[in-house]
Amino acid sequence: MASTESSMMKVLGNGPFAGRALELMITEEEIATRLKAIGAELSQRYGDSGPIFIGILNGSYIVMADLTRELDIPFEVDFIKLSSYGSGTSTTGTVRLLKDISADITGRDVIVVEDIIDTGLTINFLRRRLEEAGPTSVSFVTLLLKEDVAKLDFPIDYVGFSIPNEFVVGYGLDVDQQMRGLKAIYSLKEQA
Ligand code: PRP
Repeated sequence: MASTESSMMKVLGNGPFAGRALELMITEEEIATRLKAIGAELSQRYGDSGPIFIGILNGSYIVMADLTRELDIPFEVDFIKLSSYGSGTSTTGTVRLLKDISADITGRDVIVVEDIIDTGLTINFLRRRLEEAGPTSVSFVTLLLKEDVAKLDFPIDYVGFSIPNEFVVGYGLDVDQQMRGLKAIYSLKEQA
């Protein structure tokens, strides 16, 4: 897989998605450049206040790792596991809490890290839940935002890329738990 990562389109030859195609949407380099810029903005904004980054598992694990390595400030990390998708490519319409955060966020600056905001269901759910704990502030970072699809009644502070309403995989994003390890973001096409 890695050797063909730079190609614009590749057809999957084996496995459960054989015959389907991946079309390159955002390159590894573009992601790195954008995360570096967001990291610099966050470092500038939070300084020595010691914010806590909360990643939403599973998808955000790679964004979290790469974004936090662009920071030059003190910070902590924690994770929450939520799921709005079952298997397949469409949302179930409900969010399930599968693992809660461990940290006490009362009086803390919190930065939520997402890989993608699609319908907005997950992030709306999490925002309400976090606010109940009385943090000093909550801001939101997402690598990808489906601007035309997401229903949000609050602004997303840091958006890596706005993308069209296509099913995307790679860089932490999966289809049926597969393909998270792709280094770029690809659109999954039904047929080659
Ligand atoms: C994905 C993604 C977001 C959410 C966005 O998670 O990581 O958390 O969907 O969709 P929404 O805006 O429509 O709520 P998913 O539930 O697929 O779990 P995963 O992170 O384990 O892949």
